[in-house]
Amino acid sequence: MSDYILEMNNIVKEFSGVRALSNVNLKIERGEIHALCGENGAGKSTLMNVLSGLYPYGSYEGDIIYEGEVCKFKDLRDSEEKGIVIIHQELALSPYLSIKENIFLGNEQAKHGVIDWELTEKKTENLLKTVGLKINPNILVSQIGVGQQQLVEIAKAFSKSVRLLILDEPTAALNEEESANLLGLIKEFKNQGITSIIISHKLNEIVSVADRITILRDGETIETLENSMISEERIIKGMVGRDLTNRYPERHPNIGEVFFEVKDWTVHHPIDSSRVINKDINFHIRKGEIVGIAGLMGAGRTEFAMSVFGHSYGSNISGQVIKDGQEISVKDVPAAVKNGLAYVSEDRKALGLNLLMDIRENTTIASLGKISHGGVIDKEKEIVDAEEYRKRMHTKASSIFQKVSSLSGGNQQKVVLSKWLMTEPDILFLDEPTRGIDVGAKYEIYTIIEEMAAAGKGICIISSELPEILGMCDRIYTMNEGRMTGEVMRVDANQEMLMNLMTLEESVV
Ligand SMILES: Nc1ncnc2c1ncn2[C@@H]1O[C@H](COP(=O)(O)OP(=O)(O)OP(=O)(O)O)[C@@H](O)[C@H]1O
Ligand SMILES: [Mg+2]
Repeated sequence: MSDYILEMNNIVKEFSGVRALSNVNLKIERGEIHALCGENGAGKSTLMNVLSGLYPYGSYEGDIIYEGEVCKFKDLRDSEEKGIVIIHQELALSPYLSIKENIFLGNEQAKHGVIDWELTEKKTENLLKTVGLKINPNILVSQIGVGQQQLVEIAKAFSKSVRLLILDEPTAALNEEESANLLGLIKEFKNQGITSIIISHKLNEIVSVADRITILRDGETIETLENSMISEERIIKGMVGRDLTNRYPERHPNIGEVFFEVKDWTVHHPIDSSRVINKDINFHIRKGEIVGIAGLMGAGRTEFAMSVFGHSYGSNISGQVIKDGQEISVKDVPAAVKNGLAYVSEDRKALGLNLLMDIRENTTIASLGKISHGGVIDKEKEIVDAEEYRKRMHTKASSIFQKVSSLSGGNQQKVVLSKWLMTEPDILFLDEPTRGIDVGAKYEIYTIIEEMAAAGKGICIISSELPEILGMCDRIYTMNEGRMTGEVMRVDANQEMLMNLMTLEESVV
């Protein structure tokens, strides 16, 4: 007989009339790594929020049985006391506090009512060691990358005595190496007897790490699979309810002239202007072409795209941007937008969305000119246009009047994409466009990107997923340490070759 550490029975959760969970059953065996899979909006995060007490007892129906006891958690602290720790989909560290302050925030190490910083630092050092992070505990969280932040979150979980660790898309923002480290860590925790629940859209990772997999669809449990011989295709079938034969739309490119060029582009750090972040970059896009930029985290890809998009990053920027043979100004964002550029940010919460507004407002905010007459917004057109993009992107929401803050992670990403697609740019930079997006929706997004290219636009995809770069792009640039280190046609490219170019020291382009 199996020994369950957790049983969630017949869970129902509604948000003012919207049924996010209609009947979910989940059984977690002691010591296993259990994966939760499902499309965007299937209810994965909601289920984990119910479990952790974020949605307290009384706000949902059904039973939570943990360690053989019925639990009625009032809040997160209540479940943490029992050793249930959740790491949320969107990281929740305070950027302006140090690592050690973040780890012991709300759990201060005090002696006689005074915080013992020495002890705090010692403990932090030990915790950072547990997660394999070699970093000074005194530096600010804003100064470390997302990959390291993720590890700090896990270190924080270990500062509380964790027995059931819940990770909601822990590797979404990580590159392959960081992801592999993190998954290795979860396996190590398993050897120490810690049970984990992991939510991920990266099915290859699920297949490699999970003992069992539960699939949710539209707020219901579809099935739980033993991972003895599971394939990604089989999981997809459970998620979408049908076979999905191709991951990428077939591409029949019709590529024209070079119409967009960036020449000798050099960018310095916004605060420390002696640091060179991008050096002598030369880059171009042809009409109808999809270009990729591959690189490891910190290679300078985002900084490049943002600096071209209206100097949104950097200082002391030099070089030329040329469109249709003429030099154009990208001195600020309005100038870049006016000249037909758009940039979809990798950090949707900080830069992509206004969380206080609804889907309609977020979709149209960068295209107000299109929906206004004489400076007045045509409310009806706003609704029609926002609705059109919601349908095109298959954004799962009760209506376009739903606040984006209450959308599932993947559906928020679709709103960010809608916003920039609506500006109908000539050149579109997409930075990690499918992060946290389910396989079915990825295909929809790829199709829209293809359609834009077919209409003669130029697209640049920055992605840490090499299969995505290889699946979508006609030509691929590689970057390392702020320089372009390679340029290859897709037909000549493979993962290994790209990895080599991504770690090359000298510039070849
Ligand atoms: N606070 C809320 N108010 C209204 N609706 C909500 C709220 N939170 C979640 N929902 C809805 O519940 C459904 C499930 O959302 P949930 O975040 O659990 O999805 P998910 O499976 O985690 O998706 P993703 O893979 O995109 O993260 C969605 O349709 C979402 O819009
Ligand atoms: Mg989620």
